[in-house]
Amino acid sequence: MFHHNAVPTILATPNNNVLTTGNGNPVDDNQNSLTAGEFGPILLQDFHLIDKLSHFDRERIPERVVHAKGAGAHGHFEVTADLSKLTSAKFLAKPGIKTPIFARFSTVGGEKGSSDTARDPRGFAVKFYTEEGNWDMVGNNTPVFFIRDPLKFPDFIHTQKRNPQTNLKDADAYWDFISLSHETLHQVTILFSNRGTPQGFRHMDGFSSHTLKLVNAQGEAHLVKWHFKTDQGIKNYTASEAAEMDKINPDSSTEDLFNAIDKGDFPSWTVSLQVMKEADAANYKWNVFDVTKVWPHADYPLQKIGKMTLDRNPQNYFAEVEQAAFSPSHMVPGIDVTNDKMLQGRLFSYPDTHRHRLGANYLQLPINQPYRAHVNHHQRDGPQTFSQNYNNLPNYEPQSKDPKGPAQQLNDVRAKYTPVTLNGQTGRYPHHTLNDDYKQPGDLYRLMKGKEQDDLISNLVGHMKNVKNQDIVKRQIGHFTKADPEWGRRVEEGLKAAKK
Ligand code: HEM
Repeated sequence: MFHHNAVPTILATPNNNVLTTGNGNPVDDNQNSLTAGEFGPILLQDFHLIDKLSHFDRERIPERVVHAKGAGAHGHFEVTADLSKLTSAKFLAKPGIKTPIFARFSTVGGEKGSSDTARDPRGFAVKFYTEEGNWDMVGNNTPVFFIRDPLKFPDFIHTQKRNPQTNLKDADAYWDFISLSHETLHQVTILFSNRGTPQGFRHMDGFSSHTLKLVNAQGEAHLVKWHFKTDQGIKNYTASEAAEMDKINPDSSTEDLFNAIDKGDFPSWTVSLQVMKEADAANYKWNVFDVTKVWPHADYPLQKIGKMTLDRNPQNYFAEVEQAAFSPSHMVPGIDVTNDKMLQGRLFSYPDTHRHRLGANYLQLPINQPYRAHVNHHQRDGPQTFSQNYNNLPNYEPQSKDPKGPAQQLNDVRAKYTPVTLNGQTGRYPHHTLNDDYKQPGDLYRLMKGKEQDDLISNLVGHMKNVKNQDIVKRQIGHFTKADPEWGRRVEEGLKAAKK
């Protein structure tokens, strides 16, 4: 196995300046193709030309189906609190422990070349290279999400992408889906506030959004939500500032992150947890496995646990950022999953898309390697097996040939999922709501101060005025009204004024 950031020297830095073909032969002429006579056709035997063109033909891999546009950087996470009561994860064992990380920030709906200033949630993905394998915290800059059942995700995303006929963004599809899926209201409120257009990746917070579990050495679990608070301070664009920046520099967030790190102004985030006793979940006023809900800080205050700092730019965008593959299912002992349905869907979806986007051996790519852990298993072969493929070691288990071969750890409690008690019948149940879906969005609307509220209304009106079907508009205004009658009225009035 090679080390993180190290690629075989032949691919990294050449030790002389001889231009070669892909297979290492010196190239005599890189300007003129080999032809039959001075004015004749090109010869098939010109391997350098054929190899150069055919490699070029294959330069693109599929872009991420969501979160295609993004920027990333390396750094570290340092623990600042004693977490031993909460988790047995070794990288969280005591204050002072530093873990190397790689973070990628992104917009969601647009293509790889789309604008950094789009109104969209921002992805906030962090890969922790721990000694017990990689843990990926694959969150957003919002504490909630639009929907809460993974079955709805492809449909939801289709409405954010281009219309199948016109290939244009489609406000009717967007608001049609949203108005028929009222659980979206909370995230819609955040998205259409100015938090939907952050001033670059350094000036936004990150959230696990989902409820995850931390499990201690005694096997006791706590439910937690992760919060990454920007030390640079939150800064957002208004809609008109975002539109202006789009014209000046559609890559503003990417450039801002790179330049800050390049000049030694390292961005950092203070990392905190909200912690809930597992037993309390059943009686809490909000369903804690519903990713459209937050836990109010008054009930579960933030507890500071660490600091994340980004201090090194990638050397190569494709190798490090484009090929980075984050997954909520990349976990380590001491951190565990919950019954959040969306999370459950994501546990499958990410490695699946990685196998499609990058190939079956995506975990062997330098940026994705759990390089601080000892990877030892019986997976073999497949396209682009970069490693020695475990040489001649047995490729099956149980086996008796190699007494030192990888063995399952039946008695290692830390390696197991924590047991969950279940009851009831299988079925396609509507989401278990102990509560309504209008209270938290309404509270958020009422919490907004004058200008914030005005901007929310004008951002909504600016987008909804493009909807042609008035039934859709009415339905969505109905949701705003249910959350707060004044909110519904103001959007309705705003739309009327916009028509005039
Ligand atoms: C990227 C699926 C919900 C955050 C992706 C990708 C897929 C996906 C297929 C592309 C990954 C790649 O090509 O490497 C889903 C599904 C969801 C879901 C099926 C719901 C069932 C969420 C939620 C969050 C989130 C709730 C945040 C809390 C992200 C981030 C990325 C991403 C940050 C970009 C990771 C990167 O930078 O490479 N998602 N997603 N997703 N998703 Fe989701």
